[in-house]
Amino acid sequence: MSDKTQRTREICALAPIVPVLVVDDASQARPLAEALVAGGLPALEVTLRTPAALDAIRAMSQVPGGVVGAGTLITPEDVRAAKEAGAKFGVSPGATDALIAACVAEGLPLLPGAATASEAMRLLELGYDMLKFFPAEASGGAPALKAIGAPLPQISFCPTGGVSPSNARDYLSLSNVVCAGGSWVAPNQMVVEGDWTGIESLAREASKLTD
Ligand code: 3PG
Repeated sequence: MSDKTQRTREICALAPIVPVLVVDDASQARPLAEALVAGGLPALEVTLRTPAALDAIRAMSQVPGGVVGAGTLITPEDVRAAKEAGAKFGVSPGATDALIAACVAEGLPLLPGAATASEAMRLLELGYDMLKFFPAEASGGAPALKAIGAPLPQISFCPTGGVSPSNARDYLSLSNVVCAGGSWVAPNQMVVEGDWTGIESLAREASKLTD
């Protein structure tokens, strides 16, 4: 197994679902992370889509048992900012040479996005065999990922984008799927209302999707 992928694979294997989080208010970050970790989802992806995202990563990184990463990495500057904020891994919707070089330079484990066999093969050449399948549902869903796995069984995936409680098991039952990403475990309304008990309960259900 490639060095570039080993830590990412370990993080992906922590639980069936990696919550994909859009945090608008950094003061909500810590209780949100505590609820998700308590519910059995330790690996958390904070998307760099809001001004509060980096402060959210800093706050969440204090939560015992959590492994906090940064999502929506697009540029080398994103990678450096994520690392500085304490991110333990990165997630990107696709992959560029510049992004990969920055992750290598910063020592940030990367879960890079791919949606086609060619994209996956290119990343495999670069040493990445644990990839994000994105956008999962729009790219053909579990049947597409199963089909990609026939010629490329050495590549594992974290499908993300349109994954929900109703289709998660279809993905998680595939031999080339380690975990899936999803935002449903932290609905915006529950976050705004501070319904941490409700979020912990959603996380607990998600944590049992492979039982
Ligand atoms: C995203 O980019 O926000 C992720 O793909 C999450 O997608 P989801 O909201 O469909 O889970």
